[in-house]
Amino acid sequence: MLWKSLILPLLVELCSAQGRMPMMRFECSQLVVDRLDPLVNPGSVPSPHLHQIVGGNSFNATLSHDLPSQSTCTSCTFSEDFSNYWTAVLYFRARNGTFRRVPQFVSEGLRGDGGITVYYIAQSNKALNVTAFKPGFRMLVGDAAASSRMADRKVCHRCMPKTGDASNINCGSPDTQELPKGFCEGGIRTIITFPTCWDGKNLDSPDHKSHVTYATGSKANDVGPTGTCPASHPVIIPQVMYEVMWDVSVLFLLSGTTRIFNDKNLWPTDGSQPFVWSTGDQHGYSQHGDYVFGWKDDSLQRAMNARCDNDACKELKSQTPEEAMKCTIPPVVKEPIDQCKLSSLLHPLIM
Ligand SMILES: *[C@@H]1O[C@H](CO)[C@@H](O)[C@H](O)[C@H]1NC(C)=O
Ligand SMILES: *[C@@H]1O[C@H](CO)[C@@H](O)[C@H](O)[C@H]1NC(C)=O
Ligand SMILES: *[C@@H]1O[C@H](CO)[C@@H](O)[C@H](O)[C@H]1NC(C)=O
Repeated sequence: MLWKSLILPLLVELCSAQGRMPMMRFECSQLVVDRLDPLVNPGSVPSPHLHQIVGGNSFNATLSHDLPSQSTCTSCTFSEDFSNYWTAVLYFRARNGTFRRVPQFVSEGLRGDGGITVYYIAQSNKALNVTAFKPGFRMLVGDAAASSRMADRKVCHRCMPKTGDASNINCGSPDTQELPKGFCEGGIRTIITFPTCWDGKNLDSPDHKSHVTYATGSKANDVGPTGTCPASHPVIIPQVMYEVMWDVSVLFLLSGTTRIFNDKNLWPTDGSQPFVWSTGDQHGYSQHGDYVFGWKDDSLQRAMNARCDNDACKELKSQTPEEAMKCTIPPVVKEPIDQCKLSSLLHPLIM
């Protein structure tokens, strides 16, 4: 019911005034899971912690090249999108100190292999055309070092019930900045919401954040009806949003007789929850999303102007989920990532 969960509240909220915000929502299958971070730690092999990455296959430790011309495939539905998108990875910590990587599953209504559901959201007010990103543009949401709640609720988690949850979007209740405390039958959903206002000049900034900012006065970040971009960041950009589904519900099926994730006998004895980000953070605050723009030519601008919606857009070239899933690359850092001890994987991350 995830599909409904995101669309319905928007309809209710915005339909009367402006019509629904056009939302491109599409699957990007897993490209690679690797300890690289070309945005925050360019050139570091390995980077401080593990990421799950989707998008164009020219992804590497530096990303200083032209993504559309250096990529030969993309793991995303729209085959002109060679951008790269990445987040931290979720682990389950067993009582004996072993860490197991939590697999991802595809959001409702889409097909592919794990990865990220990517959104590009235009404004509901048709008079406000959004300006697509320029080549070389990149940005970051969240903070891998965060150890307490952030002032902005832009990265959040929802404990999904088996039957879905059609309430609230954009990190409203019941989403939390913390990882859910209990067992989530429908998986754990991470939402990462990027800003909609750009300074119009800088493709990046030292903190990878200050060249962009959130609109003020808008819960849903719809600048037109309710929000405003500040004078310092006057250019309205598409709102990028990531949705990542962590499969804590069915692992016992995948791993045969071992009911790891949903077996309360393997959960911590002190009543805390067993999941931990690859940053080493068990609270949940350190999840983050990295974005490097890489759409070919003006394809994204055309899609935004045409107010494309969902994952079919006549302005864009598409590929099948099967073709998208074929686009993978081997990890550069060779290390065990699916099952590991604190010392082998998480220790360097906690430094
Ligand atoms: C990344 O890929 C680009 C384009 O292929 C290449 O020029 C660059 O040297 C690569 N960097 C690394 C660190 O592999
Ligand atoms: C630790 O516990 C987990 C969960 O029961 C199990 O899968 C794993 O094999 C154990 N590892 C060791 C080294 O005992
Ligand atoms: C917005 O885009 C549409 C479609 O390309 C175009 O017709 C219109 O003139 C644009 N509006 C503005 C304000 O740029």
